[in-house]
Amino acid sequence: MFDNTHFPGAKKYWHMGTFYDWSRPNIHPMSHALHYGTSVFEGIRAYNTANGPAIFRLPEHIDRFLHSASVLRMEVPYSKEEIINAIKTLMKENKLDSAYIRPLFFSSYGNLGLVPKFSPVELTIGAWEWGAYLGEKMEIGAHVYIVPFKRIHHSQFDMTAKLGGVYVQSAICGLLARSLGYDEAVFLNLEGNIAEGPGENILIVKEGILKTNDKSESILEGITRTTILNIAEDLGIPSSVGPITKEEFFQADEGFFSGTAVEIAPIVCVTDASDPKVSKKDYTIGSGKVGNISQKLVKTYKDAVTGKIKEYEKWLTYVYD
Ligand SMILES: Cc1ncc(COP(=O)(O)O)c(C=O)c1O
Repeated sequence: MFDNTHFPGAKKYWHMGTFYDWSRPNIHPMSHALHYGTSVFEGIRAYNTANGPAIFRLPEHIDRFLHSASVLRMEVPYSKEEIINAIKTLMKENKLDSAYIRPLFFSSYGNLGLVPKFSPVELTIGAWEWGAYLGEKMEIGAHVYIVPFKRIHHSQFDMTAKLGGVYVQSAICGLLARSLGYDEAVFLNLEGNIAEGPGENILIVKEGILKTNDKSESILEGITRTTILNIAEDLGIPSSVGPITKEEFFQADEGFFSGTAVEIAPIVCVTDASDPKVSKKDYTIGSGKVGNISQKLVKTYKDAVTGKIKEYEKWLTYVYD
């Protein structure tokens, strides 16, 4: 019934302590989360290394997962250690060398009043092989579209949590950008500054200095973003954190997305459609080609996640210890 065309390598998923065949549904259509987005999730990657598959920054992802659940006032049925073990077991069960891993807490079946009082929180985890999120754009750079919808503001929602419902805005704007032929959407925040992509942070480079924004700009402070700031420091690339204006973005020498799914994806062209009253305008970032600092960060990040750099092995959780 459920084929795995878009989930290569997925054989089993984990649900509340049991493995199920990928094709076997296990959730009632009247589950609370399906109707109201009462779920929280994580996106985690595992990479093939010389010592077998290793999950990148797993404890940090699970800390954020539990934080997201607490924002939604969920009573979660599993501890951090239990979730980590379940993920490792799932990797083994599916015999995956590399994977995208998706744990999900959701308010399940019980009632459909808005308050999920009688809908217990359940945990489901899937894992499959997922290649480059933006495909060949990772190499040549993406053309992004600044959408007219402003990112949900941190005064309206706790944007440090990965809440299922919030991603409706991401899905709509990701679809909008693609329907117009762009590679990805970019949100401004209510202050009119650059916020983030639908599932990615944004970093720029100007005169050798790396810059990104933070949660005061209504973004999720990604684990990849933090990793890149750490790597940049080690490589001697100076960085700063603060609001990124639209003009700074357009005049940057380099720009790129960061995120677990997208990894590091250069941005070489921007179409600004943020103001529906003004006609849209195109901007080229830097030379329109992937810049040197971006290339250096892409390479170091790739080496870090695949266990080729000793000092970054601290970020890896090996599946077979
Ligand atoms: C809205 C949003 N911003 C940024 C990110 C990047 O976060 P991370 O690097 O932790 O994957 C994500 C992905 O989780 C996201 O969904």
